[in-house]
Amino acid sequence: MRQLLDEAAAGGYGVGAFNVSNMEQVQAVFEAAHDTESPVIVAVSRASRAYTNDGFLVHLVAAALELYPDIPVALHQDHGNSPDTCFSAIELGFTSVMMDGSLTDDGRTPSDFEYNVAVTRAVVERAHAAGVTVEGELGTIGGIEDGHGSGRSRLTDPDQAVEFVERTGVDALAVAVGTSHGAYKFSRPPAGDVLAMDVVERIHERLPHLHLVLHGSSSVPGELVDRINAFGGEIGPTWGVPIEEIQRGIRHGVRKINVETDARLAATGALRQFFHEQPGEFEPRAYLAAARDAMRVVYTERMRQFGQAGHAREYAPMSLEEMRERYRG
Ligand code: 13P
Repeated sequence: MRQLLDEAAAGGYGVGAFNVSNMEQVQAVFEAAHDTESPVIVAVSRASRAYTNDGFLVHLVAAALELYPDIPVALHQDHGNSPDTCFSAIELGFTSVMMDGSLTDDGRTPSDFEYNVAVTRAVVERAHAAGVTVEGELGTIGGIEDGHGSGRSRLTDPDQAVEFVERTGVDALAVAVGTSHGAYKFSRPPAGDVLAMDVVERIHERLPHLHLVLHGSSSVPGELVDRINAFGGEIGPTWGVPIEEIQRGIRHGVRKINVETDARLAATGALRQFFHEQPGEFEPRAYLAAARDAMRVVYTERMRQFGQAGHAREYAPMSLEEMRERYRG
């Protein structure tokens, strides 16, 4: 992932990190990356690893790599709650891990700075020795996703970010700027007082070479919510992160943008509409294909909006062995 982010920084664009937990999602991400010629980050939460028993997930991604050999891909552990979670991901072949030491290992309780530094540093040492990239987190991102999160948001302190990066050696840093995981981010269109993109700018000023990560970056488009509700769903009024704000972040060092909820909404709307319009259909391939197509549309749109589209063929992915040498040097 480090290489993907370095390339993105040199090219001035961002790379979407899309969470996957089943075959249709993996297919949709890779089809979108193929269609748009995009490098891409495939992210996997602990809950998704449990859901797929690790093995299904890893082999699904391996199959996609075989089918689409021209796309630079990083397989990333999202929100590792402990060094052990990160180490097991490395053993499975993940090329990037997030050590989220902003919370203790229950994945819920906010931790203190020294704890965060210690666990993140431990992961950096072992991951870099294996050529694997490390993302840390400072401040806490709001919301709860797949059981992970304190439910509260605590903005990242730019001065503390400098110390954190120096002491841990992370490749990328997830910053808390008021976004949250899930569909219910904001109860009105987010203005500067709730979405603090100036924090991104202040961190980027202090750490211009650091790759910043924006979690909770789904835009929760009204049309996706409306489609769900038009076919019997019950999603309350909600706003996500405007694409222009993400693009502003990309101009100030944001290189990895995490999106999951928008694909979930797209799949749910497609399924609801499908069942409403074809109540006699009971072939899973038919309705899962509808969900897959709807997710592919979202991924394709985000790849264009984040700027990664068209960059897949600009470089050859480095091996973990090469990355190991680079970290050693
Ligand atoms: P969303 O819930 O906004 O899609 O965020 C996903 C995420 O940040 C995964 O880590």
